[in-house]
Amino acid sequence: MMTAPDRDALIHWYMRNRARSAALFDLVSDEAYYSRPIAVRHPLVFYEGHLPAFSFNTLVKRGLGGSNIDTQLETLFARGIDPEESQSGRADDRQHWPARDAVRQFAAEADRHVIAALERADIEQPGHPLLDRAEAVFAILEHEAMHQETLRYMWHRLPLDQKRRPSGYLPATSGAPPAQDWIEIPAGRAVLGVAPGNVPFAWDNERPAFEVDVAEFAIERHDTTNAAYLEFIEAGGYREARWWRNGDWEWLQRERVEHPLFWERTGRNWHWRGMFETVALPLSWPVYVSWAEANAFARWRGARLPTEAEFQRAAYGSDTRAVRQYPWGNEPPTAERGVFDFSSWDPEPGGAHPAGRSAWGVDDLVGNGWTWTASVFAPFPGFSALPSYPEYSADFFDHEHFVLKGASPATARELLRPSFRNWFRPRYPCVYAAFRCARATVSS
Ligand SMILES: [Fe+2]
Repeated sequence: MMTAPDRDALIHWYMRNRARSAALFDLVSDEAYYSRPIAVRHPLVFYEGHLPAFSFNTLVKRGLGGSNIDTQLETLFARGIDPEESQSGRADDRQHWPARDAVRQFAAEADRHVIAALERADIEQPGHPLLDRAEAVFAILEHEAMHQETLRYMWHRLPLDQKRRPSGYLPATSGAPPAQDWIEIPAGRAVLGVAPGNVPFAWDNERPAFEVDVAEFAIERHDTTNAAYLEFIEAGGYREARWWRNGDWEWLQRERVEHPLFWERTGRNWHWRGMFETVALPLSWPVYVSWAEANAFARWRGARLPTEAEFQRAAYGSDTRAVRQYPWGNEPPTAERGVFDFSSWDPEPGGAHPAGRSAWGVDDLVGNGWTWTASVFAPFPGFSALPSYPEYSADFFDHEHFVLKGASPATARELLRPSFRNWFRPRYPCVYAAFRCARATVSS
């Protein structure tokens, strides 16, 4: 059955996205605007143009066949880059980029066209390569929401004096680390992916749905905390090759990596570099690390990272065949259930949201940091690229990316569906990525 698109809801979502992006760009100084806080990413200026350019190019130009606003800027702002794709990108040359006012003028013009299309154009056209089930509309909405998370990673790396703290915000650093515990998950089926007809929209890498058998396994109740990770550091974990895969060990030596990127050391004291201030290392927070660091810790513990299928079972499974929409059940996501949807600029103590527990009693699987899995990012059987954004996933099926599941504090609530997958390279340390260990059970 065809139903008309809910234009008001889509416009509201677009405006909410744009307001959140504007607020992010308003936090940073002019000095930061042309800087490149993560060497393998573009300078900030690119993203202020890229978000509306992508929306305009995808929906208005490619989807609806609209005409250009400014071909030069549309091309300049067309595409971001993947870490390690371009280690030696252009320096922070201001000449290459337009003035901030020109970027904002272009963005405002692109926004006008996109909103007019959402209000009046034929945005849902059955059988159309980009507009069937209004695909291009959802693609641009989710694209911007996902970028807001990567923007936060970038802002995180800016010097503290180049960004303004929103009034009233303080990181929640108090609290003792939660008591860690192994939870046994019985053998059963896990659902990966989603049938496209069952959701308004899903990315190509989430399609289609299929079930897999998952053997009995144990998973930790909580994310690995800074306190637990400190034990690994103090035990010399970063100085022993046996915990690291070869390429990861070479990375430690080459880059002189001695601790997580979010940690800083002054004398004997450890600190966490927060978004707006540096705080004494909050022992109760999940540690944010690269896959390589998570994997080394798990090996040191005599454990391993959970597979993607194990995560699905731990988060969305139960002892009935029903699959939950969220770990806690089917009620909509609220701040009580976990740390996501931009509710905080930093992590919160592990275990602080018992209302978000899964059927098995596992905490914080969605929120407070993505969960690294042992699974390489690969297409599901029957994969086909989305016409609205064909390079979205296909460019990354290179066996060089690992899947993350769940959500971080900077993941929009619209992205919390069980099938949503995130992926990064194993030695990219900037992500809000947590982990927990898994292992076989005594009986398995
Ligand atoms: Fe993008």
